Amino acid sequence: MLKRWVRGWLESRGYVVFNTRSLVGYAQDGLFTFNSDHFRRDAAFRAAYARGVRANGRVDPGTEWRVHIALWAAGLALRVEGDFVECGVNGGLTSTAILERYGWSDPARRFWLVDTFAGPVWEQFAQAEGGRVEAAHDAMARGAYVTDVERVRANFAQWAGVEVVQGAVPEALARVQAERVAFLHLDMNCAFPERAALEHFWPKMPAGGVVLFDDYAYFGNEELARTIDEAARGLGAEVVSLPTGQGLIVR
Ligand SMILES: C[S@@+](CC[C@H](N)C(=O)[O-])C[C@H]1O[C@@H](n2cnc3c(N)ncnc32)[C@H](O)[C@@H]1O
Repeated sequence: MLKRWVRGWLESRGYVVFNTRSLVGYAQDGLFTFNSDHFRRDAAFRAAYARGVRANGRVDPGTEWRVHIALWAAGLALRVEGDFVECGVNGGLTSTAILERYGWSDPARRFWLVDTFAGPVWEQFAQAEGGRVEAAHDAMARGAYVTDVERVRANFAQWAGVEVVQGAVPEALARVQAERVAFLHLDMNCAFPERAALEHFWPKMPAGGVVLFDDYAYFGNEELARTIDEAARGLGAEVVSLPTGQGLIVR
């Protein structure tokens, strides 16, 4: 019914909509499309996503397309030498899905997971990020940000080489002992620490290294995109904006 209405609306505005009868459509997490979401039926994806949801206290936030992109980006980064780093871990949905998808076992590679495990650092928000502060307060009040670091450590115990670092970015970055970084996932929903982490790790990233921003083009997060674009320009890089709300740089 909804699909018929959307199809009619699109066609009344001159769009040609192909073959919607055979598509289920994808409508979650700020993304609505009739384009193929076939990755959702892939067994390896399903297993990785399910393990990520388990890490997230069995709460499924409906971010399959974002996790699909993260898995692809991590796969690309596995082709180059270097550790993986995530800043903004929470329960570990994305990082757990990556570990599960690629059967993390290379003793030469570590996966550094940095988080306060106490929510955001409130003073780090810029005035222009007012909406994000509200959203973060709401997330804290709902218990959506994990503060039990032992629960997080227990989740990752099955994989060797995972290093959980509790602390605030940027100060905590000094404890990430990575000489080279192949994959950097930034997901702190706050412009200041994301920029600081990008600028900290960029010189350690080889050609082919991947930076994935989880919140780059997220609705209400315009200040983050502006800040990251400015930082990227200073590093001679450019971010591609994805319809999932993520941003991506391949160095
Ligand atoms: C959206 S959640 C991360 C979600 C996670 N990447 C996932 O896959 O489920 C944001 C996290 O960033 C953390 N955070 C926010 N600001 C931070 C900072 N300056 N330093 C470290 N962690 C921070 C919060 O504690 C929270 O756990």
